[in-house]
Amino acid sequence: MRFGHFDDSAREYVIERPDTPLPWINFLGCEDYFAIISNTGGGYSFFKDARLRRLIRYRYNNAPPDTGGRFLYLRDDDPALQPSQPRYWSPTWQPTRQPLDEYECRHGFGYTTIRSKLAGIETRARYFVPLGESLEIWDLTITNLRSEAAHLSVYAAVEFCLWDALDDATNFQRNLSIGEVEVVDGVVYHKTEYRERRDHFAYFASSEKPTGFDTSREEFLGPYRGWDSPQAVETGRMAGSITHGWQPIAAHQVRVHLNPGEQTGIRFILGYSENPQGEKFHPPGSQTLNKRGVAPILARYLREEAVESSFQSLRSYWESLLGRFQVSTPDVHTNRMVNAWNAYQVMAAFNLSRCASYFESGVSRGIGFRDSNQDLLGFVQLAPERSRARILDLAATQLPSGGAYHQYQPLTKRGNDDVGTGFNDDPLWLVLSVAAYIKETGDWGILDERALYDNRPGSEEPLYGHLKRSIQYTLDRIGPHGLPLIGRADWNDCLNLNCFSDTPGQSFQTTTNKDGKIAESVFIAGLFILAAEEMVALARERRHEAEADAFAKAADEMEQAVWGSGWDGEWFRRAYDGMGDPVGSSGCAEGQIFVEPQGICVMAGLGIEDGRATRALDAVADRLASPHGILLQQPAYSRYYLHLGEISSYPPGYKENAGVFCHNNPWIMIAEARIGRGDRAFDYYLRINPSAREEISDLHRCEPYVYAQMIAGRDAPTYGEAKNSWLTGTAAWNYVAITQWILGIRPTYAGLEVAPVIPSSWSGFDAERAFRGVRYSVHVERLGPGNTVGLEVDGQPVEGTIVPLPPAGKHEVQVTVRLR
Ligand code: BGC
Ligand code: NOJ
Repeated sequence: MRFGHFDDSAREYVIERPDTPLPWINFLGCEDYFAIISNTGGGYSFFKDARLRRLIRYRYNNAPPDTGGRFLYLRDDDPALQPSQPRYWSPTWQPTRQPLDEYECRHGFGYTTIRSKLAGIETRARYFVPLGESLEIWDLTITNLRSEAAHLSVYAAVEFCLWDALDDATNFQRNLSIGEVEVVDGVVYHKTEYRERRDHFAYFASSEKPTGFDTSREEFLGPYRGWDSPQAVETGRMAGSITHGWQPIAAHQVRVHLNPGEQTGIRFILGYSENPQGEKFHPPGSQTLNKRGVAPILARYLREEAVESSFQSLRSYWESLLGRFQVSTPDVHTNRMVNAWNAYQVMAAFNLSRCASYFESGVSRGIGFRDSNQDLLGFVQLAPERSRARILDLAATQLPSGGAYHQYQPLTKRGNDDVGTGFNDDPLWLVLSVAAYIKETGDWGILDERALYDNRPGSEEPLYGHLKRSIQYTLDRIGPHGLPLIGRADWNDCLNLNCFSDTPGQSFQTTTNKDGKIAESVFIAGLFILAAEEMVALARERRHEAEADAFAKAADEMEQAVWGSGWDGEWFRRAYDGMGDPVGSSGCAEGQIFVEPQGICVMAGLGIEDGRATRALDAVADRLASPHGILLQQPAYSRYYLHLGEISSYPPGYKENAGVFCHNNPWIMIAEARIGRGDRAFDYYLRINPSAREEISDLHRCEPYVYAQMIAGRDAPTYGEAKNSWLTGTAAWNYVAITQWILGIRPTYAGLEVAPVIPSSWSGFDAERAFRGVRYSVHVERLGPGNTVGLEVDGQPVEGTIVPLPPAGKHEVQVTVRLR
């Protein structure tokens, strides 16, 4: 069953009813100001940092869900209303949930439009964040479809968060006394804590002069009432309240009189602004907010034309980003995801790492080191300049040991001490993201950019030095079998082999009860080989031959260690635990085979020549592949194992305990492509492709336009149900798997490679790809069943699979590939 449909030409997902299984969200903003918005207007907004600069409140875990965020109400002011006519309703359905005659939500790229109709009044609310601004616009159009005049009041409201979202939800003894606002010319300014150390404030304005306002939540809602039935809306009377402490809100009332057929527009603006420290107050010496920076912004964006033109700029921005890579294949789900939604999700994950979504509260996690480096693998192609900046920010949270802070706070860019370091895979991901960036851009200069360690002034070193330390970090931590020590965890945050926690509430990620000198990771070994091989290429380019040889030797020795102790006979083992016993081995009672090492080791090229890669992937197909995707491991852990940690804390079939962890499914797709099995790679691709799962939306439950982190595995009672959509490395990795390995269009240091491993039933496909300032038009034709490439560039046959970089000044290249 579906709850909507894709409008591919508009690049929108159209939701046809408001009561989706979960709030189906979208993200607004792609620079500094961000907002989460659901299909009923729920969600929250923040400036840069979802914890430290939260503008409005949102209550996770609430019942009914998703009632908070952007409140809109229409009130029929007709004194002689028929009893059958509703007095007021929410045109976005929530929070009143008054049944609507018509409803449609369109999530587009950086905007959401919710249109509805009730009692002959049609409303369209379009929400977006203009490029280059720290504000969101609610662009409302109201049409009277009745045969008589309509006398309406429109209410728009937000409930302010007192900036630090964690403190806001916990520190009531203080917070209920500090809320402050100013109201000037109908604009509500939220300035809690501005009197002391803050230099920023929020504002909420309306393009039409409000006939009433409130800033005290209690005055607006009435005692013991909720947002679903505000007293002010019910009675039509606003109090003009100025809150002192308690819960500051901004609520506007605008009266609208519409003749039959008449339409009007109202724009509301929620914005964030900062003042220089010396200019916080105006007049100087007063305690009055200096609003001079905001005045021109309001003057501009409250005008209809400015709103329309900034909306068009946003549309063009996305057109040009997406235009960098477009494909036309025989499969609609591939086209839809590659050309639009997958790329869009990659941007969201890049912007927000794992901070803020319907499943991430915005308070507990910042920018993840491992997460963001993997996001970059998909993102470099969309926006190389922003990738460069992010790489350098990440590098600056590396430690002199080569290790890295696991997360950093986006506002301060400082490493997060609560989580700290010691996730032994972390630093290696930096090598992969830098390599991907250089392959995409040819910008070798990034290796000479100086980056700090731990953000400490004076510690800077060229990025190349950081990468060397990443490699050395692993080499300095080798365990009894010659494999890398796992530390707190590797990619699988829940395989906590040094934790041994028997105390409820302890963090599995940061509790360490073992000295960490025994538990080893085969996964890190595979990742190390991948990274070391990139380092060989980087070192050779810089003519550091001795270094290149050393990296090659290290990769080789690691490979020997994997064959020595990491190979189980039919697949790669996962790890050695704190007692030195294998994890992910046929000898284990549960958790005999894990997906991660099969993916990473084959991606690193292990066993491709001698058939062991094929055996490992056959084992995946036999034991892990399910119709809903590839399970993380099997058999699921049926009880808690002290020595394994969080993985066994999950009930069987969920999350890391044998769920379909969508993040590493594409590793297997890539591995299958590497051994030339295009049918199987593509089959795996479709199993988790959100668009291909749209038909089972009632089971899947998450949005059908983006990947979720997890789909419940076959051991779970809710097999097939997805959770944790949007902010997951799944986005970048699937993008890489389909575009670079199945369609086979991948950047290399030497040029763009085209080596498709597509299904045997495909007759071919076409693609347009921007690469280092040149447009490549790729035409792939299948002449035989295999993957052997016959390459032609601008009509001339070329040896191999790499299109040589064209001479300067040439901006278009025609590539034809004949597969035999
Ligand atoms: C989750 C992991 C996550 C980790 C760190 C665990 O509870 O299962 O997926 O990476 O927390 O936040
Ligand atoms: C989610 C985390 O964000 C990611 O870093 C980790 O690799 C996966 N969970 C697997 O545990």
